[in-house]
This record gives sequence, structure tokens and C-alpha cells, in this order.
Amino acid sequence: MCGIVGYVGERQARDVVIEGLRRLEYRGYDSAGIALITGSGSSGALAVDKRAGKLANLEKAIEESPLPPSTTGIGHTRWATHGAPNDVNAHPHTGPRGRVAVVHNGIIENFARLRDELERRGNDLVSETDTEVTAHLLEAEVEAGHDLTEAMQRVCRRLEGAFTLVALDAQDPSRVVAARRNSPLVVGIGEGENFIGSDVAAFIEHTRDALELGQDQVVTITREGAEVTDFDGNPAEGRHYHVDWDLAAAEKGGFDWFMRKEIFEQPRAIADALLGRHDEAGQLQLDEVRISDDELRDIDKIIIIGCGTAHYAGLVAKYAIEHWTRIPCEVELAHEFRYRDPILTRNTLVVAISQSGETADTLMAIRHAVKQRARVLAICNTNGSTIPRESDAVIYTHAGPEIGVASTKGFLTQLIACYLLGLYLAQVRGTKFGDEIAGVVRELAQMPANVQTILDDAESVYALAQRFQGTRSVLFLGRHAGYPVALEGALKLKELAYIHAEGFAAGELKHGPIALIEEGLPVFCVVPPRGRDQLHDKMISAIQEVRARGALTIVLAEASDTEVAAYADVLIGLPTVPTLLQPVVATVPLQLFACELATLIGHDVDQPRNLAKSVTVE
Ligand code: F6R
Repeated sequence: MCGIVGYVGERQARDVVIEGLRRLEYRGYDSAGIALITGSGSSGALAVDKRAGKLANLEKAIEESPLPPSTTGIGHTRWATHGAPNDVNAHPHTGPRGRVAVVHNGIIENFARLRDELERRGNDLVSETDTEVTAHLLEAEVEAGHDLTEAMQRVCRRLEGAFTLVALDAQDPSRVVAARRNSPLVVGIGEGENFIGSDVAAFIEHTRDALELGQDQVVTITREGAEVTDFDGNPAEGRHYHVDWDLAAAEKGGFDWFMRKEIFEQPRAIADALLGRHDEAGQLQLDEVRISDDELRDIDKIIIIGCGTAHYAGLVAKYAIEHWTRIPCEVELAHEFRYRDPILTRNTLVVAISQSGETADTLMAIRHAVKQRARVLAICNTNGSTIPRESDAVIYTHAGPEIGVASTKGFLTQLIACYLLGLYLAQVRGTKFGDEIAGVVRELAQMPANVQTILDDAESVYALAQRFQGTRSVLFLGRHAGYPVALEGALKLKELAYIHAEGFAAGELKHGPIALIEEGLPVFCVVPPRGRDQLHDKMISAIQEVRARGALTIVLAEASDTEVAAYADVLIGLPTVPTLLQPVVATVPLQLFACELATLIGHDVDQPRNLAKSVTVE
């Protein structure tokens, strides 16, 4: 989820690239870098500067030690995936002779194999990134006599994974070459100048004529134009379009709020969270779990800790992990954990879930666990942050930066990481057969499409928000894995719309909360799939109970569930998925509802009152 800019034209490339990066900084801010071509022909050279931290660090460095004039350049603002966010791992990366520079967004899955091959050839790679291998491979191709476009086609044919690459050859300042597979890339068409960006925000100030590349395509921009081919060099067509967003909207991809954009990014985020984590046969490959299989076999208790939304992800994980692995699993609020003097041994696995990786409550809890010699695994979205650094192992969620304070894609990808962990433990400990695991992996692979179908119908949820604009209280009910969904739905509404909202386990209703039900009270009910008959029927009973007392029921159930329709004042259809995975789809309408309702009331959904994105104090 990095930001990428490329430019060739008549202006100072440094200024165009830095401006573009400023507009893309929301995509990642671990480090930033720039490469320019100076001179021409065989005397051409690269001028590269890159710095850890925000773009401001790079700008300061350039101010102190200016870059030479140039009209061809590329730049990058990074959201780290492979390798800590430091100067060396920052992009651009260059080839061994400093002739080719590359910036990259995405993950090259076969980079370890390619790196081995390059090292055997005697290449010295200096960073921990997957990107550097592409700079070495491209440079070998141009040194062998191919132009940069051919070199890019040849290298892309060897790459696996998802990537946008943009490259320069110091000996050819006339062109910038880019390629994409499963990762965004758009070309800006100007007059006597052309641009490349990860999205239109990179160049909207200069042109609104854009060219979107298709899958597995390479584009070469020169001052005169843009030529597109496929990875085999055959001519191809991009899609031309005109951008009518203003600048502010462009940074948000045309959405009014980062939060809404992040809700709509969830299919992509889930796909990224799954990328490279299983083979074609559906067997899990979690290279980052640096706890040996023997040690994982010895684990006799799991304790999941987190705060807020991350805690709810843990509640879902408990159902899945216990079911698949038969390891007893507790879930606890991180701030409560150490104060109750928990019983931890070397065979306890503490799983710390944190989007930011900086939440103080969670950090203090893992420090306590480490002191007690428990093993700690972090599920985190922020590469290089403190919680994964202090853990024994980490599964990154790869959701890309979450700017909206309320967690959305962070939560859904935490769920995916928890499922992957559960399946991995089941695989290592042999508590599930390979084909059962492969079956769940196949279901997970459908999740981006399932979430997309819900997003495609966002308008009907928005209409619901319109209808409930004046409401002062909303309840959410669920059972089993639907219970944490109810809690999450209520939390989103509280923090964004500032109205009273509560989530309950539906079975608890008759033990007290049913007293809250009154005429016209909106109650969201998350109904499990029909496969688990008992649960399904019990949830229907709960719906009947609240309806009989005048509640207005908004029922989230499988779209094909005809039985439940009779008890629903409003029915939100969900795709058919296994019960344990249903939270991934059932949460999305609740996010849309809260975002829309808060927007209609007039609240700032990106920065709700009294809240901060990462809570670094206990
Ligand atoms: C709610 C929300 C918070 C966070 C919580 C933990 O929308 O975002 O409840 O989930 O503060 O934050 P992380 O995951 O960064 O540890």
C-alpha cells in the first residue's frame, strides 16, 4: 500500500515527484525516496536520496543537499512489508552498478528464490526488501542489451505475487517504465510530459486525463506519450478516462472520507492478507511465525489479548482456533491482563492483536507475558512497530495504512490473520486433515468477492441510515461468532455517531437486557448460517422475543434464508459462508451503517471526538 510517482517531461522532476509524494503520503509514511536521471546516454547517472520516516525527512535532506537538475524521475513513500522501515530498506532500490532504480508496491512472493539466485551469481544485496531483487534483475537485463521496456517485460514474467514496479535506466532518460499485477497503477497523460502514480492524486494537479492499466501490463512513458504492452511484449490497450474529482477527493480515491474508502478497500485488503500464505493445495505457509513446529506442538493454552476492535477480533478467533486446534483459548482485554496475575508458562502462546502495533495497554501486556517466559505472537498491521518488534513472531495483516480512526479494514484483516493462525496450528498439530484445511482456505479465498457483493449493495444500507437518522439508541444481537460482530457494530456506532449502542449475546437477552426493548427501538440481529441449525433457530427465537416487545428488527442473514424473512422488518442479505467465517461478511453492513449515519448527522468520521488512532498511554 505504498505511494508511487513517476515523471518524464520538461519540468524539474524533483518538484513534480515530491509534490506527488506529498499527495500520496496517506498511503504510507515509513520512509520516502526519490531517484532522478542526470546527464544523458552512457554518461547518464542516477541521483538517489531516501530517508526513513515521513516525507518531511526526505524534503529536509534534499534542501540541505540539493539534487541535480533532471526532467526524469521516480519517487516512493513506503508502507513497509518486507524489512524494517529504515534508510536502507527505503525505496528506490538500485542495481549493483547503480544503473537501474526501482520503486515497488506489493509483495513479490518468490523473492527469496530470486535473491538466492542473484547471490549465487555474486550479487551483493544490501537491503532486507523483496524489491531490491527486481532492481538487480532489471539491471542485468539492460546490461545484456535490452531496453528498459523489454527488461521490465522479461523480469515481470519471472515474478510471482502482486506488484506495481516503476523503473529508470540511467542511460535512457527518455523513458520511465512501469508494470502492474494485482496492484494499482495509473498513467497521467499530459502535453509534452507524462506521469505515473499509484493513484490519480499523484498527478491530478497537472492533468486529469488518465490511463488505467489492465492486469499484467507494462507501460512506457516518454515526453511524447504512453505505450502499453503485456508481459510478452504484445501491444495492449489501457482504459482512458477523465478524472473529475477535486484534489482533496483524489487523495481519498474519490470518497468523502478515508473511513469510507477503507471500508471499500476491504476486498483488496483481505486478498493482500491472504497473499503468499498458502500454496496451491491449500496448505498454510506462514514464514513469519518464527516459533518452531515442535514448540507449537507443545502449546497447551492460548491467550488472545487486544483492545477495542482488536479485542473483538480475538473473540471471533477463539471460536475458530478452539474448534480447529482443540487448544483451550482465552480472550482478554489487554489492559486487564497483567493485573490479574495470569498463569503463564513456556507452553502458553499469547497472541497480541493490534492494528497500530503501538497500543500501550497491549504493549505492557506482552512485556508481562515475555517476562513470564510465555511465547508471544503479534497480529499487526504496522511493520516495524513496537509490539511485533518485542514479540517472538508476527503475522502482518497487510491492510495498508488505516487513516480513519475507527478500525475497519484493520479488523477484517485481523480476522483473516487469526483464521490463518488457527489453521496453521491445526496443520502443524495434525488436528485437522489437509483437505479440511484446504476447504477453509478455499472459503477464505472467496472472501474478497463476498465482501464486494455487500459493498455493491451499500446504497440499501445507506437508505437504512437515512431512515434511522433521529434514533438515540440501537441494540445489536448475535450468537457464537456473531456475538463479537454485534459488539463491533455497537462500538462503530458509539464512536462515530455518538449514540447509545450496545451489543449483546442473544442468549443473554432474557437475563436482563430485554428490559431495554421498547416500541420502535432498532435492533440489529446477526443470524448464523442455516448449516448450524440449533444456533440459527435460537437466534430466530431471540428475534421473535424482541419483536414481540415492539423492537424494529434489522436482520443480517444469508440472502437465501427464507425462514428468517418473516421476522425481519428489514433484511440485509449476506453471502453464504461457513459460520466461523461469517463475521468477515456480517461486519461490513454495520461499518457502512455507522459511517453513513454519522456522516448524515454531520460528524467527522475520520477523526471522531475524544479518540486517537493509536493509544500510546495506558
Ligand atoms: C475502534 C478502534 C479501537 C482500536 C483499539 C486498539 O474502531 O479502532 O477500538 O481497535 O484502540 O488499537 P490497535 O489495534 O491499534 O491496538
